[in-house]
Amino acid sequence: MTPEYVAAIDQGTTSSRCIVFDSAGEIVAVAQREHRQIFPRPGWVEHDAEEIWDNVQQVISEALRSAGTDAAGLAAVGITNQRETTLVWDRATGRPVANAIVWQDTRTGPLLRELASAYGEERFRVRTGLPLATYFAGPKLRWLLDEVDGLRERAERGEVLFGTMDSWLIWKLTGEHVTDVTNASRTMLMDLTTLDWHPELLDAMGVPAAMLPEIRCSAEVYGTATGVLDGVPVASALGDQQAALFGQTCFQPGEAKCTYGTGSFLLLNTGATPVPSTHGLLTTVAYQIKGQPPAYALEGAIAVTGSLVQWLRDNLGLISTAAEVEELARTVDDNGGCYVVPAFSGLFAPHWRSDARGVIAGLTGYITKGHLARAVLEASAWQTREVVDAMDADSDVALRRLRVDGGMTANALLMQFLADVLDVPVIRSRITETTCLGAAYAAGLAVGFWPDLATLRAQWRSDAQWESTMAPELRDRELHNWRKAVRRTLDWVE
Ligand code: G3P
Repeated sequence: MTPEYVAAIDQGTTSSRCIVFDSAGEIVAVAQREHRQIFPRPGWVEHDAEEIWDNVQQVISEALRSAGTDAAGLAAVGITNQRETTLVWDRATGRPVANAIVWQDTRTGPLLRELASAYGEERFRVRTGLPLATYFAGPKLRWLLDEVDGLRERAERGEVLFGTMDSWLIWKLTGEHVTDVTNASRTMLMDLTTLDWHPELLDAMGVPAAMLPEIRCSAEVYGTATGVLDGVPVASALGDQQAALFGQTCFQPGEAKCTYGTGSFLLLNTGATPVPSTHGLLTTVAYQIKGQPPAYALEGAIAVTGSLVQWLRDNLGLISTAAEVEELARTVDDNGGCYVVPAFSGLFAPHWRSDARGVIAGLTGYITKGHLARAVLEASAWQTREVVDAMDADSDVALRRLRVDGGMTANALLMQFLADVLDVPVIRSRITETTCLGAAYAAGLAVGFWPDLATLRAQWRSDAQWESTMAPELRDRELHNWRKAVRRTLDWVE
C-alpha cells in the first residue's frame, strides 16, 4: 500500500497538535491537547516535558484514528515546535532533570547583564544574529548548568543531553539526538554562517559540547520512529515560525509572513546570505533542505499577542473564550483613548528590553471592558507595525503585502485594524495551520512525497484579504499615542 498522508506534530507553547495532510496539502484530521503552564515565580515559565511527551503520543493516536489510518498510512512525519524552550534530560533513563524553561521566561536577566559586561553584546550578535536577551536557549541552559546540583559535571561526562522541543521529540521517537538549523539558530551557540556549534560561544556561555545535539538540515530523514508511529520516517524539524514561513510557501527572497499565536512572529525571507539587523530584528535561519544551501530570514519577534487575549480571559475574567474578545471589542467604536502594552516578558522586537513591564495607559472613568478588549486587539497590530517599520529600515525593501496565519487571524476586526495600521493589504492563507503544513511539506519533500517547492507553491491559496480604510491623520495620531504608551513600559524599570 502506498502511504496517502504526511503527518505533522506541532509542539507549541500552550498545546501539542498532530495534523494529518493529504497530497493536496488539505487537512484530513486534527488532534490537540493543552499542557500546564507552570509559573513558579513572577517572570518564570516552565513546562513538564513528560506531560508534553504523553500529550504528543495521544494526539498522534487521536489524529490517526480520526483520519481512519495508522502509521502505515504515513509517508513521513515532520516536527515543528515552540522555539528556544530548553530541556536537559538523562541519557540513560530518558527523564528530564528539571522542567523545561520556556522561551517567555525572564529568569536569566542578571546572567545576561554579566555576559554583556564580560564579552560585549556585539560578540554574540555578529556570530549568532541575536541580541543578548532572556528569550534564547543558551542562557537558559547555562542557568540550569549553574543551578541544578552536579549538572555541569554530568554534562561534561556526556550523561545528560540538551535539546529544544524538536530534539526532545525526535529523541523520544527515534533515539537520535539531533536538532535542525532553524532551532539551533535560536540557541546563541551556533555560528550563523558555518551552521555549527561555535567553540568560542560554548566557552562564553559555559556549555559543554558533549551535551549538544548534532545539527542537521530542516528537511531530511533523521531516523525511523518506534511506538505509536512505528516505522514512519521522521523527516523534518523546523522551529514553528520558520515552519509557518515554509507552509506559506515564502520561498523567494522578499516574501514575508506573520503568524498570530501566543506571540507573533514576522519573518522575511532574505535568501542565501544572512542579513544583519541594525533596527532590532533577529537574523535567523529560515530553512535548509538536504543537499541545498540554507535560506535565511529577518525576524521580528513579538512575545505577547494571543497570550494577552488569554490573560483577559484567565486573569481578568472579562471573556469566557478567546473568540469572545471580538464581540466585546465591537461593543465600542474605538479604544476610548486606552492603550495596553503587554510587556509581560519584557519587550521583544524591536526594543529588546527584558526589564520592561506592561502598562495600561490612558485610563479614565469612561473606559469600559469593551475599550480594554479593543486596546488588547490593537496592541497586536501596533506591535506588528513597529516590526514592519524596522524591517523596512533594515532590508531597504518596503513591505508591499503581508501574508498572515495563526489562530488570531480568525478575528476580522483585528485583521482590518492590522491592514489599517500597516497601510498594506493583509492576506490570509486558506489553510491557517501553516505551521503544521510547513513541517509536513518539509517532511514530504525529504521522502519524495512531493517532488519540489514549485509543486507546494502551486497549492497555496488565500481565503480573505483586508485593505486599509483608515485616514492617514488618524493612523499617525494613534501611532504617536502607542509610542507614548511603549515609553511608559521602559520608564517603569527601576
Ligand atoms: O519563539 C517562540 C515561538 O516559537 C513560540 O510560538 O506559536 O508556540 O507561541 P508559539
